[in-house]
Amino acid sequence: MKGEHILVLDEGTTSTRAIVYAPDGKILHVAQAELTQYYPEPGHVEHDASEIWDKTLACAQEVIAKLGGADRIAALGITNQRETVVAWDRSTGEPITRAIVWQDRRTAAQCARLREAGHEDMLQARTGLVIDPYFSGTKMRWILDNVPEARALGDRLALGTVESWLVWKLTGGLHVSDASNASRTQLLALDGPDWDDDLLALFGVPRAALPKVVDTAGTVGTCDAALLGAAIPISGLAGDQQSATIGQHCLAIGETKATFGTGAFILTNMGPVLPRSSHRLLGTVLCQQDGKRTYALEGSIFVAGSLIKWLRDELGVIRTAAESEELARAVPDNGGVLFLPALAGLGAPHWKPDATGVVTGLTQGTSRAHIVRAAMESLAHQCHDLQAAFAADGADWKMLRIDGGMSANNWMAQDLADILALPVERPADTETTALGAAMLAGVGVGLHASLEDAMTMGGALTRFIPTMGEATRSARIAPWQSGLRRHIDGLD
Ligand code: G3P
Repeated sequence: MKGEHILVLDEGTTSTRAIVYAPDGKILHVAQAELTQYYPEPGHVEHDASEIWDKTLACAQEVIAKLGGADRIAALGITNQRETVVAWDRSTGEPITRAIVWQDRRTAAQCARLREAGHEDMLQARTGLVIDPYFSGTKMRWILDNVPEARALGDRLALGTVESWLVWKLTGGLHVSDASNASRTQLLALDGPDWDDDLLALFGVPRAALPKVVDTAGTVGTCDAALLGAAIPISGLAGDQQSATIGQHCLAIGETKATFGTGAFILTNMGPVLPRSSHRLLGTVLCQQDGKRTYALEGSIFVAGSLIKWLRDELGVIRTAAESEELARAVPDNGGVLFLPALAGLGAPHWKPDATGVVTGLTQGTSRAHIVRAAMESLAHQCHDLQAAFAADGADWKMLRIDGGMSANNWMAQDLADILALPVERPADTETTALGAAMLAGVGVGLHASLEDAMTMGGALTRFIPTMGEATRSARIAPWQSGLRRHIDGLD
């Protein structure tokens, strides 16, 4: 390969994108396509894996055409929505059912049974994960139990997360998963090189259906030249939140980022030591190079950008996402409104898949601005709850780097700094998820000697400094915490 550009496929929950990076990290070309969200029944969220592939391929072809040819590309990186499960037939390469998306809660009863059977402590110790429908293991089991073709296929069945699916299609049949994605399935021990026999038996998932676990940086295969115009090496694979942590240059122990995409996910780099949470956070693989792992502690908030989308598309209280900032600024406070945005259950540190959203404190004086402001405030409050859990686990944040589409909201960025009482930094290029995959792919193909060297990719930062007085801050935090406690206690 003589090129020096990097192509990244960033397959998120609501859209798929292809981005071409110049060697200095500058974005040269972007193509994006929305993905259809299927909600066949309450709590079920599905994607069409063929649509994911078709649109991802079309986006990749579009940016390669804009660049003037694939021979200018040295490496391909893939980053993806995690935990979502795709099932396909190895002989046809076609999906046998819709992909079950990470937000899907259909396996809540299965999770309750695992908890009642006393598996939670073992699972958390071994995988770093709590028992929740969020993760892939119970989703795979659901497919095996409910899709007749999954059983009928026998050894022809392939199960994987989204990066596995895309690599399979790009290479014409290579079945791999990188360690950061594999660590979200509940089938990989945090310190185990490969799928764990006990966990496979507990979830009833056949090893033969699963991909080979590989590094996050390093060439795993090459793309079929007939698809993209050249046999581009695939040399970086990572779950989107791990990739954003790298793209935010959180390479030193303790450095922390929050990505506000469909959900909001906060990861602190924990270095080579296995993260053990006593406060309902997740331990996860941040990256793996030459078989050596770096870990992260994670707090997962399930609803962030999707809350704004819901306010716009379902409630109709805003016309555009940008209007959420205008309305939050239009009132001096929330007017007594409290918004608990549990539209997809509650993630860390509560883990209540059955929780639903609640709005309280409505009066005749309540305006749509108050409701939108309370919704926006809920983001900082959820991050503050996580800040306490991280600190209790020994990961005290010194500052927070933010990214993702919603981080463009200056009101929210300032509110975060105020409620967390910490500096908040936002890069000029908030596409840090894709940037991380570009850094990994660059290292994987030898364009950079290390991730630290690849930090030349990335640019200027905007800093938000806390300005809120302590009395105002406490007056915000106390009602949130009591409202949340009342709601959660009602579920127990
Ligand atoms: O774990 C789910 C996460 O990977 C989804 O990310 O960017 O779609 O919010 P996003």
